Amino acid sequence: MQPRAGPIDGPKATGHHEPRATPAHRHVGPHNGGVGPDHATAAIQARSLRKTYGRVTAVDGVDLTVQAGDVYGFLGPNGAGKTTTLRMLLGLIKPEAGSIQLFGTPIERGAAARAGVAGFVETPRFYPYLSARKNLRLCATYDRDPGANARIDPALELVDLPGRADDKAGGFSYGMRQRLGIAAALVRDPRLLILDEPTLGLDPAGMRDMRQLVKRLSGEGITILLSSHVMGEVEDICDRVAIIRSGSIVYEGTIAELKSSSAGGYRLHTGDDAAALAILRSRDGVRGLSETAEGLHFSAEAAVVEQLVAALVGAGIGVRAVVPQGDSLEALFFRFTEGDQDAAATVADTA
Ligand SMILES: Nc1ncnc2c1ncn2[C@@H]1O[C@H](COP(=O)(O)OP(=O)(O)OP(=O)(O)O)[C@@H](O)[C@H]1O
Ligand SMILES: [Mg+2]
Repeated sequence: MQPRAGPIDGPKATGHHEPRATPAHRHVGPHNGGVGPDHATAAIQARSLRKTYGRVTAVDGVDLTVQAGDVYGFLGPNGAGKTTTLRMLLGLIKPEAGSIQLFGTPIERGAAARAGVAGFVETPRFYPYLSARKNLRLCATYDRDPGANARIDPALELVDLPGRADDKAGGFSYGMRQRLGIAAALVRDPRLLILDEPTLGLDPAGMRDMRQLVKRLSGEGITILLSSHVMGEVEDICDRVAIIRSGSIVYEGTIAELKSSSAGGYRLHTGDDAAALAILRSRDGVRGLSETAEGLHFSAEAAVVEQLVAALVGAGIGVRAVVPQGDSLEALFFRFTEGDQDAAATVADTA
């Protein structure tokens, strides 16, 4: 049995022929979701995954721990290695090194490990000349699961396609195909759903509907791992995130932890910003000072800010606002996925 969305999606699974790799419990950082042998029953426990294509190292030592019940966001820019990692988790390609356990079962055990795991990478594909319902029937037949046929109509209902169930899949719009892909996964009655950029290419309403669907499926007890390259998008639906950059995980933890890691920035607005600027420049402990139309921006410890406010008032400068600023999620994403990797690591360490 092979996890898949549509009947013609992806190459054959080969994972169960590979020699068993030694699990390496490499610690990613302070918020890696409970790495270690105590978490053997995590929905996904991947360790030191590696995959190369010629000279390109697509995935380079990736660790992921997704706990049962999580809605887990897998974030990274184009080419970071998201799809390659998800392909390995779905058994569509074989890792060159590393180990994967799904609900505690090593993938080398083939169908036993993949039972209850469904999803798709990139765009799900279907037989274009068959109706949506017939495509799903084909999925059910492949799985030889006697209960699968009874799940087809509820699945179509859940993804909001019942009115188009007898239309040919080839005539479906991109968003409809994405939803049919999820219906195909649901026919397998999954406890783990793996979705590769499920909102990519959808219009704003389609994105909202997809987010609602993911929440609904999570509410039904399905563990969900979804990739995205938009931090703001996953904020709404995900409990935990991993950020991948050039094949390696650069952050793993909650978005709240990620946001709090960027605390310490302030916006200051006074009656005389020019005079305030001169005072800020003269003080120790004030970092990253800049002047914008909204006021002065800087970073400092709380105690330094308190002294600063006293100094400004003492100098006769009226303080109108001192507003703590976290980096926007977008800025955090860029910090982790672009430029100086050490700066990003510092944020992870202080998270
Ligand atoms: N079948 C393949 N053959 C050759 N190179 C590949 C193959 N699949 C992936 N790669 C390379 O591996 C790297 C990671 O690709 P991957 O598709 O996993 O990234 P991604 O994070 O999913 O990106 P995107 O956001 O664009 O979907 C890229 O450099 C890509 O060119
Ligand atoms: Mg991809």
